[in-house]
Amino acid sequence: NLICLLIAFVGNLSISQLCQPNRIITAVNGQLPGPTIRAREGDTVVVHLVNESPYSMTIHWHGIFQRGSQWADGPAMVTQCPFQPGGNYTYSFNVTGQEGTLWWHAHFSFLRATVYGALIILPRGGAKAYPFAKPDKEEQMALLTGIPAGPADAYTINGKPGDFYHCSAMRNLCEPIRKNETYLLRIINAALNTPLFFKVANHSFTVVAADACYTTPYKTDVVVVGPGQTVDALMVADAAVGRYYMAASPYDSGIPSGPPFSKTNATAVLEYAGGPNTTLPPALPQLPQFNDTDTADRTWPTVPLAVDTRMFVTVGMGVADCQPEQTLCNRSRTMFASSMNNESFVPPRSTSMLEAHYSNATAGVYTRDFPDQPPVVFDYTADASNNATMQYTTKSTKVRTLRYNETVEMVLQNTRLIAKESHPMHLHGFNFFVLAQGFGNYNQTTTAPQFNLVNPQERNTVLVPAGGWAVIRFIADNPGMWYMHCHFEAHLDLGLGMVFEVQDGPTPDTSLPPPPKDLPQC
Ligand code: C2O
Repeated sequence: NLICLLIAFVGNLSISQLCQPNRIITAVNGQLPGPTIRAREGDTVVVHLVNESPYSMTIHWHGIFQRGSQWADGPAMVTQCPFQPGGNYTYSFNVTGQEGTLWWHAHFSFLRATVYGALIILPRGGAKAYPFAKPDKEEQMALLTGIPAGPADAYTINGKPGDFYHCSAMRNLCEPIRKNETYLLRIINAALNTPLFFKVANHSFTVVAADACYTTPYKTDVVVVGPGQTVDALMVADAAVGRYYMAASPYDSGIPSGPPFSKTNATAVLEYAGGPNTTLPPALPQLPQFNDTDTADRTWPTVPLAVDTRMFVTVGMGVADCQPEQTLCNRSRTMFASSMNNESFVPPRSTSMLEAHYSNATAGVYTRDFPDQPPVVFDYTADASNNATMQYTTKSTKVRTLRYNETVEMVLQNTRLIAKESHPMHLHGFNFFVLAQGFGNYNQTTTAPQFNLVNPQERNTVLVPAGGWAVIRFIADNPGMWYMHCHFEAHLDLGLGMVFEVQDGPTPDTSLPPPPKDLPQC
């Protein structure tokens, strides 16, 4: 087993970008995006972090199962207390049973806006052991938004917005590609709050993996990637020698009319080596409209599957701190809150949930009554702004306890209380099968027979469409406390999350190991 050691300084970096010189951001090793971690399946990855930033910090290894290393998962107050400015912490975990593109990011406050990077897991035998023809070259790209909420300042590809941003002086040039060679594109959506379309002008690609899980290969010329999701795709440089843009633009089926984005494209220039025409402007791909649901849908599996424990969970926006029956309620002071089954998740303050679970001292930290159903059934896709029962959510720290090895099927039903938006739902510690996705109110009777039990996609993040639903299934064979939440940073912050408490199995190696001695304390 190879040990990858990375010394990472989480510190301040001054950058000039998006029309503003000398912006101070928090970055790792002075890079934006942060350094790429490359490992082989089966490796132990050891990352030593020195926190030179003014913020408390934790890092999450997005999509890593963390079997036997649950304490290294990283979400603040769920599996650990953050480490402080001036402090340091070493994460150690193995990357077993998964291959492909994942990523890492800060999991405290909004720090993941700039504290993030790629985490690539190659097969044990290296690139020659891919289950598809070995590409000639591997490219990597990440996408990111500039500001925390709402329409972004700009989207970027590998940290740069590209030619169409008004102050962008620099061409966002990729390394030259060679005619007829095959490239592996690793596409990561690290944006805070927006699903993105991705295309390359005059090229198509073959999707081979999503969320570090090989898929039945399929050919397409566009992919849609939700925040937190990744796509690996092979692209053959089979166009005429020249220059082409790769470009990303926002997708949201929930925006009723007119793009609220002034700068809708992020671009990077792909240039063929040895081309005589490098002064010609590059060709721009025709990106779908921001609300082009048909195209987004086409890139999702039409598949689905079977059952054990069934949960029906609403995901959506509401308001909190005010119950309709409370006479003292001051509506003008209500706060936006997001919720799952009308529970708006608040992380505990005193200790992490994993520590409380391990020492069986949960009083005052969390309760075990996260409901399997929403409190009321109604038309989830209708404007329910007058449906006070669903609209007023309770702030709580509730978990759903699962027996070791329990099979869980979850219907994630989007609601349109307050706002109609899609929600990229991410589950820590597992991949799940995506059995079905669709629009409207979920209907078990008509949908269950159409579940794809044959080759459903396996993912750690699923985009639950605005005005729609998704059905996922996973086996709870990884003991510990696992966050499930919307990967829109604004929604996570407002409580769109819950935690699964997976009990120990019968043997030591199916049980949660003791915490590392140096686990940060609150
Ligand atoms: Cu990438 Cu809990 O998140």
